[in-house]
Amino acid sequence: MSIEPILRSLLPDTAALRHDGVTVGGVDLRELAETYGTPLFVYDEATLRARCHEAAGAFDDGVAFASKSFLCGAMARLALEEGLCVDVATGGELDLVLRSGVPPRRVIMHGNNKSKEEIARAIKEGVHRLIVDNFDEIERLGELVGAGTSVNALVRVTPGVEAHTHEYVRTGQEDTKFGFSVASGDARRAISMMRELAGVTLHGVHAHIGSQIFEVEGFSQSMSVLADFTRGDDFDELCIGGGLGVAYVAGESAPSISEWARATRDAARESGLRAEVRILAEPGRSIVAQAGVTLYRVGVVKHVTQRTYMAVDGGMSDNPRPVLYGSGYEAFDLGRPLADRPQSVRLVGKHCESGDVLIDEAHLPAATGVGDLVATPVTGAYGYSMASNYNRVPRPAVVFVRDGSAREVLRRETVDDLARLEV
Ligand code: LLP
Repeated sequence: MSIEPILRSLLPDTAALRHDGVTVGGVDLRELAETYGTPLFVYDEATLRARCHEAAGAFDDGVAFASKSFLCGAMARLALEEGLCVDVATGGELDLVLRSGVPPRRVIMHGNNKSKEEIARAIKEGVHRLIVDNFDEIERLGELVGAGTSVNALVRVTPGVEAHTHEYVRTGQEDTKFGFSVASGDARRAISMMRELAGVTLHGVHAHIGSQIFEVEGFSQSMSVLADFTRGDDFDELCIGGGLGVAYVAGESAPSISEWARATRDAARESGLRAEVRILAEPGRSIVAQAGVTLYRVGVVKHVTQRTYMAVDGGMSDNPRPVLYGSGYEAFDLGRPLADRPQSVRLVGKHCESGDVLIDEAHLPAATGVGDLVATPVTGAYGYSMASNYNRVPRPAVVFVRDGSAREVLRRETVDDLARLEV
């Protein structure tokens, strides 16, 4: 068990730790907690922009930010400004991204069960790419295109690569709900059917092997499969999806976006892929995870024989990942970031459920207690986007910080917001 202070590398790029406080983007996190309340999601714009910029430079034009990892208007616009397209997986994500001012020609539309209405809107708006997932979708597409209506598409395939990650977020293997199997011949049949559809321009194939993957080998393998599979086609695009992992706790390390792209490009070259074929990806977590920190206030400390429970004012509603995937996080005290952390606690939330655990064994300074502000770093991905209102807990506000100032990009939900759906 490490009692060392929180690792600087788990915090956003601009974080500065002093013995009595932490600033991110030049703003003191305790001030943000006072101004906006807790729980609070804080994102460092510099980190977000740096990761988007890195992805835009490492892959070819058309590389997209996977908005499911964290979506609001400010984030969609930021990704656009930094040169990325925005990937959406449902009509809801599509709607928000378009409302936010992202032009349709920079939007990539996914989904394993797109309704006819969702496909129709994507076509009508003129999205950059429609990623076609299954035979039923091809049928629906056939009813919508032609006679002056056109769409640019990729076919999503399963390359048969088993990524080393949690089974809930593994998607490249044969036994999956996503995409057409290369091995069974379905992917080839799908390509032939798509070519028959007037109004469809097929640019290439797409694969996504899973998420939170630490080894680049799986992506290299996936790229080799895609390159081999499409050798006889005249495609101009191959996309390896998202999935690059990030370090959540001390001791973990992940490749950078540039290293990920380099491994993918090397595999493409070794497979003899034509140089003019664009190599694309859809990073989500690796763009937003480390940019985000969640601030909480401690409300209760309870000692039992086996351990100490420390309860904060959020929990599984703002971060369901520990409950869903057993994901690990760390915590630190916003007022004592450089202190050793000898106090071992189970950091829990305020939900009526024993499983509402944020960190099974969190390390905090000896003095941390009721009334103090604690934070969990690396919470920028799949926290807010998977947040719920369980127990009628309103969702936190989201603040972006940059160059010494903060701007609220999503306000805190109120109980009135929650009551609005009552009929
Ligand atoms: N592209 C496709 C087709 C995807 O399905 C996903 C994620 C991505 C890109 C982005 O993957 P990323 O770079 O973020 O790993 N809720 C889970 C993660 C689910 C990922 C779903 N698909 C979690 O919290 O770990």
